[in-house]
Amino acid sequence: MLQACPLRLKPTVARWREAMSQSVLREVLALADREGVLSFAIGLPAGEFFPAAELGAAATRLLHADRRALQYGVPSFPLKQQIVELMALRGVSCRPEEIFLTTGAQQGMDLLSRLLVERGSPVILERVVYDGMQMAVKKLAPEILTVPTDPATGIDVDAVEEILEAGADHAFLYLITDGHNPLGVSVSREKRVQLADLARRHHLPIIEDDAYGFLFFEETAPPVRALDAEWILYLGSFSKILAPALRAGWVVVPEPLTAILSALKHSVDLDTPSFTHHVISEYLRSGALSEHLAVVRCEYRRRRDVLCAALSRQLADIARWSQPAGGMFLWLELPSSIDTAAGIATAIERFQVAFSPGRAFSVTGDDHARSCIRLAFANLAPDEIEEGVDRLARYVRWALH
Ligand SMILES: Cc1ncc(COP(=O)(O)O)c(C=O)c1O
Repeated sequence: MLQACPLRLKPTVARWREAMSQSVLREVLALADREGVLSFAIGLPAGEFFPAAELGAAATRLLHADRRALQYGVPSFPLKQQIVELMALRGVSCRPEEIFLTTGAQQGMDLLSRLLVERGSPVILERVVYDGMQMAVKKLAPEILTVPTDPATGIDVDAVEEILEAGADHAFLYLITDGHNPLGVSVSREKRVQLADLARRHHLPIIEDDAYGFLFFEETAPPVRALDAEWILYLGSFSKILAPALRAGWVVVPEPLTAILSALKHSVDLDTPSFTHHVISEYLRSGALSEHLAVVRCEYRRRRDVLCAALSRQLADIARWSQPAGGMFLWLELPSSIDTAAGIATAIERFQVAFSPGRAFSVTGDDHARSCIRLAFANLAPDEIEEGVDRLARYVRWALH
């Protein structure tokens, strides 16, 4: 039998430590997978809508037609052309030469962060924001400036302006314009215009993450990239509109940056999963995406409505929550005496319900997020959502006593 071996190799993890502190939480959330637990914890798209048959047929066609589909290769130009068409549906005009294919939006975040943080300037983040971006940034150890954000209105653009007016260069601002993770908010058209204007006036790169942009239930304005092609660096993803295991995403950047991104990417990821990209391209050629998106949007809207109605019935007297116009998340603010990170184990063990504690998304670990919860609603059927909120409400009442 193998003996447990003490680790004599000491990796240089100091700069990573802060980003990795969330891993304890991840361990707790692993419990959420247990039989019988209703989990709002992880942002999974609804698996029953994955277009498995169509993707399978596309893969089979490809493998029969062209063995080069399995070979190392240059990034798929046809897919880039199809992404240009997709971007047009978001109101964004761009060229295939401005598209850089990635292994998901997360890789886009990593590449763009490395590209921009090197300059040694501070990064601007909302106080509460997607933990994956925090991990991409914190490992590079830049100075991080935070701005307030709100579940009803999103990023505080005046606070961004104040920081910029104080002078100095900034590496970038990270922005989730639609279906914010974790707040579930979409920012107003007016704020989008202000942000594009700030980016231009202050030469501020904005990494605009549009991972949920195609999953809208209500009309929102086009992404900020529609307003500025120079300073807005756009992240797109097939994870939420097709399936996350495809590991396929893209960035839209000014053309000269694509060569630099390519060099950066080469060191960790010799080729994109190009077979997947060919399969997606084949799938898109069949024209099935628009029908698929219509079905998913309609179902997610229904799940959001069921969730909001259940929260109104169960928690209206003590909580407030966001009204997502798209995406997969809702942010729930509970009475300030509740520490949701401390309570998650009990919620799972005793009440059989799981959620993501707000603190997992807090950039500075500040107090407000302590009593908040992110509810991921896309991957639960409507009756499970109702039952889940019932259990959640019982946990909350228990936590208050
Ligand atoms: C805001 C946001 N951006 C990006 C990602 C990651 O996307 P991908 O699967 O394309 O890497 C996620 C995943 O949850 C996310 O919530």
